[in-house]
Amino acid sequence: MDGNTIDPAKSIPLFYTGQSIFLTGATGFLGKVYIEKILRSCPDVQEIFLLMRSKKGLSLNERLEEMLNSPLYDKLREEQPSNFKKLIPVSGDISKENLGLSAVDRQMLAERVTIIIHSAATVKFNDSLKHAILINTRSTRDICILAESMKNLIALVYISTAYTQLNNSFIEEKAYPPIADWRKMIKVAESLDEYILNIFTSKCLDTIPNTYIISKNLAESVIQEYSSSLHCAIVRPSIVISSLKDPFPGYINGFNGPMGILTAGGKGLLRVGYANKHTSQNDIPVDTVINTIILVSWKLGLTIYSPGSTFIVNSTFPEKNISFQEFCDKACRLSDEIPFEKVVWTPYPIFTESFTKYYILTILLHILPAVLIDLILKLSGRRPELLKLQRKIYVANYTLRHFTCNEWKFENTNSQALMSLMPPDNREMFSIDLSNVDMKEYIRNGTIGIKKYLLYEDMNRLDAAKAHRKRVVLFIATFKTVIAIGMLWMMYKWILLN
Ligand SMILES: NC(=O)c1ccc[n+]([C@@H]2O[C@H](COP(=O)([O-])OP(=O)(O)OC[C@H]3O[C@@H](n4cnc5c(N)ncnc54)[C@H](OP(=O)(O)O)[C@@H]3O)[C@@H](O)[C@H]2O)c1
Repeated sequence: MDGNTIDPAKSIPLFYTGQSIFLTGATGFLGKVYIEKILRSCPDVQEIFLLMRSKKGLSLNERLEEMLNSPLYDKLREEQPSNFKKLIPVSGDISKENLGLSAVDRQMLAERVTIIIHSAATVKFNDSLKHAILINTRSTRDICILAESMKNLIALVYISTAYTQLNNSFIEEKAYPPIADWRKMIKVAESLDEYILNIFTSKCLDTIPNTYIISKNLAESVIQEYSSSLHCAIVRPSIVISSLKDPFPGYINGFNGPMGILTAGGKGLLRVGYANKHTSQNDIPVDTVINTIILVSWKLGLTIYSPGSTFIVNSTFPEKNISFQEFCDKACRLSDEIPFEKVVWTPYPIFTESFTKYYILTILLHILPAVLIDLILKLSGRRPELLKLQRKIYVANYTLRHFTCNEWKFENTNSQALMSLMPPDNREMFSIDLSNVDMKEYIRNGTIGIKKYLLYEDMNRLDAAKAHRKRVVLFIATFKTVIAIGMLWMMYKWILLN
């Protein structure tokens, strides 16, 4: 951490008093939790401009209204109901040049914004290179250009990922040389057609696992370059999963990483996974990431700007996380107590890092049963859906293979420094300390979160889910017994014949 800190003893909510924040990615997982936390814990913030686009026929205001109806905002509704008025949607699209902002809105933002959080991104690993670079890299350049026009800006925080430097097994909180020149790559993405770019992409993907990583790596170098004129920071979260405690334990918004595995495994759909079961996965609760972002802006705001330096924080689990296998064992044991509804098999997936074994087991344990069940569904007049689902699981698992079969370690010096810098009165409210997490309890809350917020299952129907699970267990036992008897019978016949 660099010096020149003015007053670290100030209270964090006090620091945010009167601040005017510009947030991109407001409708995403991190954006939603950020909005909730700031409005509730720093109630005197001036306003939050939300860069949003209309989607699925809904206008910005309709999208915002729908989003705020989520149980995520219940606590805020109770504690600071008037603060919702501080949210100001601004029409934009980060896939467009200059973020698709109107001249009037650019002017307004330039006049009023003091803090920028750039969180919007395409997070698809298999997007085209063109799309990934235009959305993730060019938008970061355009955020910096906009930031340069802001008169009162004190902090620009870019949300990157902990995985932009995969060639290093230990990832430090420092700037690394970029994989290419971001200006040239933006030009290439803007000018070449998809066909030529796809040939170029397959060359790039020899050494880098996906287009998302390429685009985020380049975006980091944009931020580093603009640090010569702007007060910038980069927050690098690992895999963001359900909340530890804020605003309540278990809040989750998507099937990313381990949440997808928990869901597909818990439903009995994932019976084989492409992963090294001994590697530890670095997952981080969403509320820890959000508190880190809040602390980083606070730290930048309190520090005298020194041109050229970028404050970089790895928002990752500090010590050795539990292994894939341990994670799954804990989750599987929970499935007796808190089963998902309509499970199709008991959840004990096999993990392998041998692609051949994974492929053969996928055909035997995923594809064949899916074809059979779909056939039964079709014959009984219902819609076949299992094969389609298994295809999605296969693609997701294959796309994630680089991360499920490898392990990285991360420096956490700057998180530690942020923790010690935090005013004592604020330590609980903005905690980023993960040293005493009860993993069993955390996975338990995560499972309940999946049921409630992703699968929309009612916890009052738990007894029915348990009864269904018992029937499935009985069916599996009967099925296995019939198969075993059949095999013994065939062996007996074969011995008799010989
Ligand atoms: N989640 C993780 O595990 C994780 C881990 C490491 C780093 N990160 C980083 O954290 C940031 C936030 O991730 P997240 O999990 O919140 O992602 P997310 O849930 O997928 O949300 C993405 C956000 O970006 C917005 N966005 C995408 N394309 C846009 C466009 N063309 N114009 C305007 N907005 C657009 C989306 O808006 P719409 O709703 O309109 O699509 C949404 O608000 C990203 O930068 C990501 O790289 C995430």
